[in-house]
Amino acid sequence: MSTHIGAGDGAIAPTVLLPGDPLRARWIAETFLDDAVCYSEVRGMLGFTGTWQGRPVSVQGSGMGQPSMAIYVNELFRDYDVQSIVRVGSCGALTDRLAIRDVVIASGACTDSSMNRIAFEGLDYAPVADFDLLRDAAAAAPEAHVGLIFSGDSFYSARPELLTRMVEHGVLAIEMEASALYTLAARFGRRALAICTVSDHIVTGEETTADERQETFGRMVEIALTAALGK
Ligand code: HPA
Repeated sequence: MSTHIGAGDGAIAPTVLLPGDPLRARWIAETFLDDAVCYSEVRGMLGFTGTWQGRPVSVQGSGMGQPSMAIYVNELFRDYDVQSIVRVGSCGALTDRLAIRDVVIASGACTDSSMNRIAFEGLDYAPVADFDLLRDAAAAAPEAHVGLIFSGDSFYSARPELLTRMVEHGVLAIEMEASALYTLAARFGRRALAICTVSDHIVTGEETTADERQETFGRMVEIALTAALGK
């Protein structure tokens, strides 16, 4: 049992899907997994282990933002020997190259977070996806956009205009977790990928309905499971 995850040794599979919302973790377990068992309810951050096409897989809620996500990811890698984590989340589109409900597979993640700045003492580390997961997710989802995203620490940013520079340098979308996830995977020598669906469009102001979010979320989970376990 780790500090924030109430699972015993061996209760978590080597492959973990990581939604921010713990209720999404339950929905994924109920919808996609066979024989799913809840292994943790600590702080309501639900985790489940089951099988998909006969192969073990876990689903763990991470909360929103890099500090919350990093607590769970540190413990999954360090205390449960997890080998692969695929974040499945939502993002805001920053460019009209994306439409609402599109799927974005993050090849790398820029950030305004101090988590990397502190760890790298002022040098700029470039957090990138695991190549095999990225390639297999892209192959499973020809419709998806593959590219850079931005992991912001503030959903309600005091200086949203700063993102313009990022968009001019190819950044497609904004979310709040991928950058620190990629850095932690590198630190532990494990694999990570972030896949997001566009829930809101920062340029056009469009938003998805709850039903639309559920539908596109399901497609993203299929892509994540295929990339992580399909072979
Ligand atoms: N900003 C940050 N994170 C997000 C957004 C957003 O607009 N949409 C979904 N996750």
